[in-house]
Amino acid sequence: MRRPVIAGNWKMFKTQAEARAFVIALKPLVANSSHCDIVIGAPFTALAAAVDAARGSAIGIAAQNMHWEKEGAFTGEISAKMIVEAGCSHVIIGHSERRQFFGETDVTVNKKVKAALDAELVPIVCVGELLAERESGRTEMVLETQFIGGMAGLTAQQFSRIIIAYEPVWAIGTGRTATPEMAAEAHRFLRQVAAAKFSPERAAALRILYGGSVKPDNIKGLMAQVEIDGALVGGASLDANSFASIVNF
Ligand code: PGA
Repeated sequence: MRRPVIAGNWKMFKTQAEARAFVIALKPLVANSSHCDIVIGAPFTALAAAVDAARGSAIGIAAQNMHWEKEGAFTGEISAKMIVEAGCSHVIIGHSERRQFFGETDVTVNKKVKAALDAELVPIVCVGELLAERESGRTEMVLETQFIGGMAGLTAQQFSRIIIAYEPVWAIGTGRTATPEMAAEAHRFLRQVAAAKFSPERAAALRILYGGSVKPDNIKGLMAQVEIDGALVGGASLDANSFASIVNF
C-alpha cells in the first residue's frame, strides 16, 4: 500500500506572518489526519516561520526550488543544506513554472535531485506535458524524456526516496483539471517507465501525485483512482480550510 501525500505549493505567495498564521490555522484541522503525509511548499523567506509554526504536528515543510551546488558564487541561489537547516523535509524540483520561466531543464532537475538526496531531502519531482504536446499525441514521449532525464544516474535505493508529481501544464492554475482517468493513464505510464528503468518492485512503491487545479470538490474523484497517490495543490493550498478539506479527502 502506498501512503498518500497531499502537498501544497504556495508559489510566490505568503509572507512569514501569513505562513505562520496559515500553519497555526491548519494544525487543528489536520491533527487526526494520519492517513497521509502532509507537506507545504513555502517561499524561501517563510520556510523557517512555517517550520516553527508546524512544530508538534505531522506537517512537513518543503522548499520550491534549490541549487545543486553545496555553496559558491551563485548570486540569488539557495543550497540544499540551507533548506535542511531551515527545517525542511522536502523540496519541489522541476515545477513547470521553473521550466517555463527560469530555464529549468531535465539536466538541472537531475543535478538538483541528486543534491537533494545527498542532503536527505525528499525530492518531489514534477513532470508534465504542454497542451500542444498532448494534442499532438506526444504526452508519453514527453513524460518519458522528463522522467528518464530527471532520474538519470540514480541507484534504485536513491530512487526509492523520490516522489513524482504528474502535472499537465494545461491544467495548472487554469481550472481545467485532467479527468481522474486521464491522470491515472499518465500515472500508469510513468510507473511502467519506472519499472523498466529501476524494477517492478520500486515502481510499485513509487508515489505519484497529480497536480493541476486540484480542489476540495475534485480530490475525492482523483483519489478514487488506485494509480493516484496524492496531490500537489497550488491555488487551493493557499487557504487553510480548503487545503484541510483536500488533506481530509
Ligand atoms: P494549481 O497549481 O493547483 O493552482 O493548478 C498546481 C501546481 O502548480 O503545482
